[in-house]
Amino acid sequence: MDKKYWDGYYTDHHAKSKPTSFAKSIINTLPKKTCKLLEIGCGNGRDSFYFSGKGHDVSAFDQSEVIINTLQNSGKNSPHFFIDDIRNISIQPKEPFDIVYARFVLHALNEYEAQQAFKWIFEHLNNGGLFYSESRSIKDNIFGEGEKIEQNIYKTDHRRRFLEKKDLLKELESFGFTINYVLEKQGLAVYKDSDPVVIRVIAQKL
Ligand SMILES: C[S@@+](CC[C@H](N)C(=O)[O-])C[C@H]1O[C@@H](n2cnc3c(N)ncnc32)[C@H](O)[C@@H]1O
Repeated sequence: MDKKYWDGYYTDHHAKSKPTSFAKSIINTLPKKTCKLLEIGCGNGRDSFYFSGKGHDVSAFDQSEVIINTLQNSGKNSPHFFIDDIRNISIQPKEPFDIVYARFVLHALNEYEAQQAFKWIFEHLNNGGLFYSESRSIKDNIFGEGEKIEQNIYKTDHRRRFLEKKDLLKELESFGFTINYVLEKQGLAVYKDSDPVVIRVIAQKL
């Protein structure tokens, strides 16, 4: 969703930046010393670089060629960055992943697209594999701002679907996930003067 917006954004914002507080908060929960980890919607790769720097085997994709080309030309072999679209993931990994990680990405998908993504993620995780997600909640202050596109989807400079905790958990469970952890609050993803209400989830394929 909003590829044009993100290509434009990354034309000006491609500098490497610090890992997010979400990535730092989960690093000690990763189950192995070297996890096979996939980040979906990786943006400038800040969290992928962090996981890779901690010894994990990281692949990461984004729909934006602008940012992926920049990352691929950075001269580093790790993480492995590539272009793909969550709505129609084209990679066919030889082995399943231990971890799939999605930060501020689920709200780029409508309800149906998110369900298809959950199905793909479940099918491409190892038994015991974990899905980590952080996204904006409907309790966020900016929920309702801008043009209403569909239920829970609003467009300001780009579109966002705000998530409802109970629906998110129900959907993940309907695809077979067990919910290990959930937290919905402010103070977790502070950026400049923005302090959104986010939902953090860790879901496991058992
Ligand atoms: C808010 S940014 C988050 C980037 C990164 N996860 C982070 O936390 O820094 C959302 C990212 O999702 C990507 N994205 C949105 N829809 C996508 C799709 N259908 N397939 C792949 N990437 C997508 C955008 O290009 C953008 O890089």
